[in-house]
Amino acid sequence: MGTERFDRAAADWDSKSRRVRLAGKISSAIAELPLSTEMSAMEYGCGTGLVGMAVAPLVGQLIAIDSSSGMLEVLEQKIAAEKIANMETLCCDLLADKYNRQHNLIFCSMTLHHIRDSGALLQRFAELLLPGGYLAIADLFTEDGSFHKADAEGIHHHGFDPEELKSSLEACGMEAISHRTVHSIVKEENSREYPVFLLTARKRS
Ligand SMILES: C[S@@+](CC[C@H](N)C(=O)[O-])C[C@H]1O[C@@H](n2cnc3c(N)ncnc32)[C@H](O)[C@@H]1O
Repeated sequence: MGTERFDRAAADWDSKSRRVRLAGKISSAIAELPLSTEMSAMEYGCGTGLVGMAVAPLVGQLIAIDSSSGMLEVLEQKIAAEKIANMETLCCDLLADKYNRQHNLIFCSMTLHHIRDSGALLQRFAELLLPGGYLAIADLFTEDGSFHKADAEGIHHHGFDPEELKSSLEACGMEAISHRTVHSIVKEENSREYPVFLLTARKRS
């Protein structure tokens, strides 16, 4: 998929309070992992950094990756304005581009449903984790397709069953896999609730 949709949305992304609220819940849940300032972390599909900027103070280094240069421009302005010294950005698609740095923590918020071959991305995450490293994935539970507008581009999954993700991750060498509901998004358009899970896992040592 092209990145135009997110490039276009970038400037106004943070103006939706429901996105900010959700990111707060997700970053608080990630913060419950045993993080330390010795850790190298990567966020995949970081967008404007709503989650990553809250996690950055809890780790040593954070590389925030996204395939949309528009999203990254907004994040870069925020990093400069807030003088965040331990955060860098990278425009990259892990399934198309070379990337082989390994990390103690990889997290990914509301991005997996945009990835056609989500299983291949889970495999990449497992490869890019150091032994004992943590993975945290937040996304929608399986929904009926009404979360996004009918004509929205780049929606490859209507949420996920975390038990299915767990089976895929076990096959990639991940263990201690669990998930919980961290938030429910209420859509003004239809007044419906869409629960969001955070799944965490650890790479076998
Ligand atoms: C729904 S937004 C979530 C942004 C942010 N994680 C948050 O929680 O606010 C999805 C993000 O995934 C990014 N994305 C979509 N496909 C991607 C891909 N193949 N590789 C990297 N990033 C991708 C988009 O550019 C967008 O920034």
